[in-house]
Amino acid sequence: MPFVSESVSPLDQAGLNRLAEAALAAIAGAASPEELGQLRRLWTGEQSAIAQANKAIKTLPGADRAQAGKNMGAVKQRLSAAFEARRQALDEAAASDKLSREAVDVTLPTDRQPIGARHPLELLQERIADVFTALGWTIAEGPELEAEWFNFDALNFGPDHPARQMQDTFFVDPPGSGLVLRTHTSPVQARVLLSRGVPCYVAVPGKVFRTDELDATHTPVFHQVEGLAVDRGLTMADLRGTLDHLADQMFGRGVTTRLRPSFFPFTEPSAEMDLACFVCRGADPGCRTCGGSGWIEWGGCGMVDPAVLIACGVDPDEYQGFAFGMGIERTLMFQSGVGDMRDMVEGDARFSLNYGVEI
Ligand code: PHE
Repeated sequence: MPFVSESVSPLDQAGLNRLAEAALAAIAGAASPEELGQLRRLWTGEQSAIAQANKAIKTLPGADRAQAGKNMGAVKQRLSAAFEARRQALDEAAASDKLSREAVDVTLPTDRQPIGARHPLELLQERIADVFTALGWTIAEGPELEAEWFNFDALNFGPDHPARQMQDTFFVDPPGSGLVLRTHTSPVQARVLLSRGVPCYVAVPGKVFRTDELDATHTPVFHQVEGLAVDRGLTMADLRGTLDHLADQMFGRGVTTRLRPSFFPFTEPSAEMDLACFVCRGADPGCRTCGGSGWIEWGGCGMVDPAVLIACGVDPDEYQGFAFGMGIERTLMFQSGVGDMRDMVEGDARFSLNYGVEI
C-alpha cells in the first residue's frame, strides 16, 4: 500500500495531503467492516505515518507547532469523517442485504398449520357418558383433591382398611389434613346422594390417583367411570342389564358381561365384572385379547351397601342401589389394542391422531 509507511513531517502540507488522499481512496474501497477496521489500524494506528507525524509535533520548534497542529487536525478530521461515512454505508448495505435475504413471500401457499387432536381417553369418557345420558342418567363430577371422609369413611372403609395405607393412597400434606387425591371415583357416589338425594341415576367420569409406578400396565394417574343408581326396588338384575347394555354399546352387538363374587366395603354383594371377549367371543383358545379365557376383567360393581345409604341419609329399607366402576385406560386398551399405558400419557399428538380428530 503506497504512502502508508512513508514518513512525513507535520509541516509538509503537500505530503500530508498525499497521505490523506491515499487513505481516503483505501477507505472508499473497504468492502467490509473488518477491512475498514484493518485500514483504521493501518492508517491511524501507532505505527502509521500520520501517528508518527502527530508525535513529531512536540519535537518542532515552538513557532512551528501551531501550524503543524492545524495541519494534523485537518488530516485527522478528514480521515475520521471518511471512516465514519464508510462505516455507515457498509452497515446500511449489510442491513438492506439482510432484509432482502430474509424477505418472506407472504403470497406463497404454506403447509396447513397442523391441528391437534383430542385425547382418546377424553373421547372415550364422552362416549361412555353419551351411553348413559341416552338412558336418562345425568353426568356428575367430583373433586380430585378429596376429603378422606368421602374417599373412605362414607364408603364404609374401616379405619384399618389396607386401601388407606400409604402404598395406595396419595395423602396430602400436612399429615392429618384429612385430604387425599381420590383413589377412585366412588366418593362421588356419596357426594351425589348427599347433594341431589334419591332417586338418582348418575355416571361419573374422572381422574383418579394411586401410588403406582408408571409402567406398561400401571400409571399413577388414570381414569374411571363410576355408575350409581339408587331407587325403589332396584336389584342385581338391573345392574347386570345396565352393564350388558354398556358393553353392547361400547364393544358391539351382543357383547355381554359376567359377574364374579368379590368384595368392596361399599357394595354388598360385590362382584368383579368381566367383559365377554369381543375379539374371539370365547371361540379362540389362542386369542391374544382375552388369553383364551373368553373373558376380560373390566371393573368392580355391586349393590350399594346399606351402610353407605345410611351415611348419606338414605333409608335402605325404602331405597336400593347398584354401583359400578371401570377403568377407562383398560377400556381403551381393549378397544384399540394399545399395549403400553405409557403411550397414553406421553401427550404425543401422533398417538391421538390415530383415533381421528373429533371436536
Ligand atoms: N371403586 C372401585 C375401584 O376403584 C370400583 C367399584 C365401583 C366397585 C363401584 C364397586 C362399585 O376398584
